Amino acid sequence: MAVDPIAEIVADRERARAAGDPLVDACILATSDGHGPPGVRALVLRDVGEQGLGLLISASSPKWEPLHSGRYELLILWQTVHRQYRVRGSLTPMPEDRVEEYWRRKVHASRLLDLYYDRVQAQSTPVDSREAFMAGIDTLRQHHPTPDAVPRPALLRGIYLVPGRIEIWRGSPDRLHDRRLFTRSAAGWREQVLVP
Ligand SMILES: Cc1cc2nc3c(=O)[nH]c(=O)nc-3n(C[C@H](O)[C@H](O)[C@H](O)COP(=O)(O)O)c2cc1C
Repeated sequence: MAVDPIAEIVADRERARAAGDPLVDACILATSDGHGPPGVRALVLRDVGEQGLGLLISASSPKWEPLHSGRYELLILWQTVHRQYRVRGSLTPMPEDRVEEYWRRKVHASRLLDLYYDRVQAQSTPVDSREAFMAGIDTLRQHHPTPDAVPRPALLRGIYLVPGRIEIWRGSPDRLHDRRLFTRSAAGWREQVLVP
């Protein structure tokens, strides 16, 4: 039977978690604006399943536009289980109750930071100084002194990356690693072996 690469990622994640992999909840997103060099950054990998790879991102951030224009690739690396995955696909909004669930898990400061992007300044824009930034956070904290008092910012978005293309790298002790490219079509997943 053909391999379901998403099921494989889900199973590998369980193995990586059991092995104490420090990156089990992380991924790397590379984007391009179509001109200069790519931008690359780590993100929390919220959940993984047939629904896709769940991410929480501020729509104020520079990665938002290229992500939605399809100019990106997402990488997952779990060294403990000798796996790398490179994923491309389409994006779909995370259901509201799921975004709310992740919001509930955030600590006070993290919520204030998300609110900062909405109320004060977009993520990744320059500030006058670290002190000026902290003063802005303190002002938000005075208005919203407890986690529950912080409203969920409109620009905080949950998205699922629904894979259409997954390259799985399976590390092999003989160094002749196994690379497979999975491409999704209406008929299911097509699998190709790649030169490692
Ligand atoms: C381990 C780790 C996890 C992170 N998780 C997130 C995340 O879930 N969402 C997010 O927007 N930024 C996250 N960041 C910050 C991003 O790496 C990045 O600095 C920020 O999103 C701004 O990126 P941009 O300017 O390219 O949009 C994380 C950073 C690290 C080191």
